[in-house]
Parts: sequence; structure tokens; C-alpha cells
Amino acid sequence: MDNGYLWIKAFHIVFMVSWYAGLFYLPRLFVHHAMSEDAATRARLAIMERKLYRFVTPWAILTIVLGLWMLTWYPLEVLAGMGWLHAKLVLVGLLVGYHLWCGHLVRAFADGPNPHSHVWFRWFNEFPLLILVAVVLLVVLKPF
Ligand code: HEM
Repeated sequence: MDNGYLWIKAFHIVFMVSWYAGLFYLPRLFVHHAMSEDAATRARLAIMERKLYRFVTPWAILTIVLGLWMLTWYPLEVLAGMGWLHAKLVLVGLLVGYHLWCGHLVRAFADGPNPHSHVWFRWFNEFPLLILVAVVLLVVLKPF
């Protein structure tokens, strides 16, 4: 692949890591928010969650834009045969759904009572890691 493609791939990975910093940290804030009772702590966590979500959303968009841009290097008939990419795009769709759900939870927490228990958020927190492992194995090994 030419240099241009490799520069785009390099920044695709950089933006993906930046996005993941938020996907790993935001649900942790939800766990603490669901455990905290005093109003001052809850108000501060609500501000941190809102700022963090706004901070990482551009990285999500840039990861996807650069990923789609790389697809323009491949003829359609080649893309049709890239099974690993099809599976990856399904997982990326789930990840975007998770990201938007986090946005909904940021607003739900700001509006008042806990949308779920802290135990629920501990399990919720694990989902992005499962997607990351599956996506990295798919794109590095290209098994099908
Ligand atoms: C619509 C979204 C996305 C598209 C279209 C896309 C597409 C691609 C393409 C075409 C490559 C280059 C493959 C190669 O040259 O070997 C790539 C590399 C990569 N992608 Fe994505 N990607 C997307 C989202 C993501 C996400 C969300 C993650 C992480 C969870 C991710 C992780 C990676 C990694 C780690 C590489 C580097 C693999 C390597 O260097 O071997 N991508 N992506």
C-alpha cells in the first residue's frame, strides 16, 4: 500500500486509542456515580461525564472517517471478499451503539436517579474490551 494509506492507517489507530480512552473511563464514572449519595459528588461526576463524552466523540468520528477512507483504496469486488472487514464492521456498529447508549446514560444521570445499579455498570464496562479484542484479532490476522 502507498504512503498515503499508511499515514491514514496510523492516525486511524491513534484516534481509535483516543476513543477507547473514553470508552474505558466513562463507564467507570457511571459505576462511581451509581454508588455515590451526596449531591456535590453526583453533580461533579455529571459534569465530568458530560465533558468526557463531548471530548471523545470527535475521536470516534475520526476513527470511522479514516477507516472508510482506507476502503477507497480497494476495488468493490475485493471489498466483497474481505470477510474479516464485514465482521469488523458489524462489531464497529455495536461499538457505535454502545457509544450512543453512553450518551443517553450521561443525560439520564444528569436528570436525576441512577438509570442502573453500580453492579450493572461494572458489567456494562466490560463490553468495549470484548469488541476491542475481537476487532484487533480480525484486522491483524484477517482469518477469513
Ligand atoms: C467504520 C469503521 C472502520 C473501518 C471502515 C475500518 C477499516 C480499516 C481498514 C481498511 C484497515 C486497514 C487494514 C490493513 O491495511 O491491513 C484498518 C486498520 C485497523 N483498524 Fe479499522 N476500521 C474501522 C473502525 C475501527 C475500530 C472501531 C477499531 C478498534 C476497535 C479499528 C481497529 C483497527 C486496527 C487496530 C487497525 C490496524 C491493523 C493493522 O495495522 O494490521 N478499526 N481499519
